[in-house]
Amino acid sequence: MLGDVGIESLDPNDLLLFDQTYPERISLRRSLLREYPKDIIGVTDDSNARIRLAVQELYRYLFQSYLPCRYPSQFRLCGESGKYLVENLVTHEKILTEIDASIALREALETMAENIDEDFFILLPHRPKESKSSHESYVLEAYAACFPSGFQPGEKIGKKLADIHEPVPGYREKLERSMDRFFARLEVGRPVKRVNWSLTVDEELYSNFDKGGTALKTKPDKLALEDLDLQKTFVRCERQTLHRLPESRAIVFAFHTYLYPIQDIKAEGNGEDLAAAIDGLQGSKIPGIFTYKNGEKWADAVREFLRS
Ligand code: HEM
Repeated sequence: MLGDVGIESLDPNDLLLFDQTYPERISLRRSLLREYPKDIIGVTDDSNARIRLAVQELYRYLFQSYLPCRYPSQFRLCGESGKYLVENLVTHEKILTEIDASIALREALETMAENIDEDFFILLPHRPKESKSSHESYVLEAYAACFPSGFQPGEKIGKKLADIHEPVPGYREKLERSMDRFFARLEVGRPVKRVNWSLTVDEELYSNFDKGGTALKTKPDKLALEDLDLQKTFVRCERQTLHRLPESRAIVFAFHTYLYPIQDIKAEGNGEDLAAAIDGLQGSKIPGIFTYKNGEKWADAVREFLRS
């Protein structure tokens, strides 16, 4: 069943993909973090040893190994007065490569959000206390997320995977069981990826709102072509990855968000392909997914533009 949602294996070297937008996006992330610190960072319990281990482990892996090895022109290890540091060569700041008990997890997650153009969600397995079954549920324990699309991480923290996906049509019936099995079996060193896409109208990268909230609220139920602000109508794609940390056994769900203006897609000659993909979304095997993505509002106007 998970085949329907397009999960593929991922080369561990490609866990994070940075591009030339890095400096501009990092500065946007920093200004959002100043404005909305409570929305962007969340931890269930800073003093919980398992959660501390998971955040510390991810932090150390990223700043001590992955980033300086994979992106040496952006991150360089350096030592200073006995401390292990990594220099962000774009911002010229020095960052600790690991955190100890004196550092709040929130602070560590902020450092990730400020330096890495990726959103992170950390989940830990829990076994129901009274049950003898080996069935584990994954709970969202911590996040650093500047660009969630149409949901509020603050409302998801502390919840199980199935409850997080409560608004997603077909999740309970079609995905829940296979997702739980999939999570239980995800092995260290064998990350996976999937891509999610939709169209957004009047939203930019920061979209920490409920679906159908703010931007669309003031708009008619069904947009006409002239209602579209073409400068602010984007295909929004998330490249999502999942990997397991070896020590804490936490699963890290991470995503990188891309926005493509529909004007550019059409100008590059790909308008018909996108219009056909929207047709496909409308006829999806998962009933309700088109509505979940607000398709009734934008699809006709966007297709009219793409096919004109
Ligand atoms: C195998 C892994 C996963 C699959 C197959 C999956 C599937 C989905 C699907 C189908 C949707 C609807 C939008 C879309 O097409 O992407 C969705 C939404 C979402 N997913 Fe997942 N998901 C996965 C993992 C996760 C994890 C680990 C989290 C942890 C935070 C998560 C959080 C969310 C949230 C917050 C939404 C939006 C829900 C809302 O509208 O309130 N997903 N997911």
